[in-house]
Amino acid sequence: MSFITSLTRMWLTRSVQPFTFKNEYDQTLPFAECENLGLYVHIPFCKSICNFCPYCKVLYSKELCEKYIDALVQEIHLVGSQHAGKKKVTSLYFGGGTPALATNRTKEIIDALKEHFIISEGIGLELHPDNVTVDVLQTLKDAGVTKISIGVQSFRNKFQSILGRKKIDISAMRSALEAVPFETVSMDFIFALPGQTYDDLKSDIDEAFASGANHVAIYPFIDFTFTESPVAAMPKKEKRELLDAITQYCLNKGYSRSSIWTFSSVPDANYSSMTRDNFLGFGCSATSLFKEQFKINTFDVESYFERISIGKLATSLTIRFTKRQRMIYWLFWTAYSTKVEASDFERFFGVPLKKMYGFELWLAKRLGFIKEDEGTYEMTLKGAFYYHYYEHFYTLSYIDKMWGIMRKEAFPERIEL
Ligand SMILES: C[S@@+](CC[C@H](N)C(=O)[O-])C[C@H]1O[C@@H](n2cnc3c(N)ncnc32)[C@H](O)[C@@H]1O
Ligand code: SF4
Repeated sequence: MSFITSLTRMWLTRSVQPFTFKNEYDQTLPFAECENLGLYVHIPFCKSICNFCPYCKVLYSKELCEKYIDALVQEIHLVGSQHAGKKKVTSLYFGGGTPALATNRTKEIIDALKEHFIISEGIGLELHPDNVTVDVLQTLKDAGVTKISIGVQSFRNKFQSILGRKKIDISAMRSALEAVPFETVSMDFIFALPGQTYDDLKSDIDEAFASGANHVAIYPFIDFTFTESPVAAMPKKEKRELLDAITQYCLNKGYSRSSIWTFSSVPDANYSSMTRDNFLGFGCSATSLFKEQFKINTFDVESYFERISIGKLATSLTIRFTKRQRMIYWLFWTAYSTKVEASDFERFFGVPLKKMYGFELWLAKRLGFIKEDEGTYEMTLKGAFYYHYYEHFYTLSYIDKMWGIMRKEAFPERIEL
């Protein structure tokens, strides 16, 4: 598995040099020069921990959460004040864990960010279904949140219990969403669970759109090596049939595919913290991506407190990209939206896409993975499946390895991928 990703990496970066993350960091971050910069805030608390979940999360306690938000606000000012004036950014996303558990302080965090940044494309936040109440939604809306994403996973009790989660009260959720509308209401589903059929998935999607969602994310189940989930992954052939069938169903219904795994029922609904050229992350495990480097904060809450309390950034690892590595990173995440504009690549790197990857584009067209229309490369259904398939390898060889180490060591010496 890692053999495939290593070979692809060597081919596309034209180098045998691995992605090397080192235990060193810049105290001053180069975000002022970045265009199309997004913000991300990580809140790692959950009321109960799901055994399949790979994210950086800890069991909620009010005291710990309050202490964490204090540190987070300090980190925001520490970074934000590195550059004079207010920097224009696209969006702000709160991810977790369960950021809705800190609703009482969401406004304070947004206000701290607004002292340094001008947010032009809205604010998104993740909720657990238990958090979807009129009170919570109204407080979030008053704080400036415009998009919400709810971790439904499945409306079928059978799959909720396979995942070790509780039954969802759909009618309570629907009436809260009716009472407090948002620009985007996204619901997360997990597919390729044991025994899951096309009808199961189809009825989940129908139910989501009938219950107040205007956007759905259908994530393939990933069995991370460091989680203790007993859930077995679905075989490739079955998974492909399910993904193709559900994609076709959504497209026939007139929903637009806003990324590999997301569909919207209205054109303006979108929810993606991934497809941005650069981003700046705050909190434990948050990552930041700039023109020449990528950095990741420590996963350990106590180490995060220690660093921030002495005015130092909580960066655990940094990778300084070669030009080709950065290009691959850009292409990989831009392709997540199922479309790549050659002009965007040239604007970002100052060199034509065809000049750097002409052969690969030709091959991808010949293999039926992409279609080209005047410099716009769009993924076909086949291409989307293979992207999804490769993404799975990437997740298991890169993210699995990195997160597996980071959840045990606050500041690892070095990681090579
Ligand atoms: C941070 S959680 C969402 C908010 C909230 N914590 C919740 O669980 O309802 C992000 C999403 O990641 C997805 N996810 C978590 N573990 C996964 C796995 N092993 N494979 C695929 N998707 C997963 C779930 O769909 C989940 O809703
Ligand atoms: S899936 Fe959501 S609630 Fe469950 S552990 Fe992960 S972040 Fe927490």
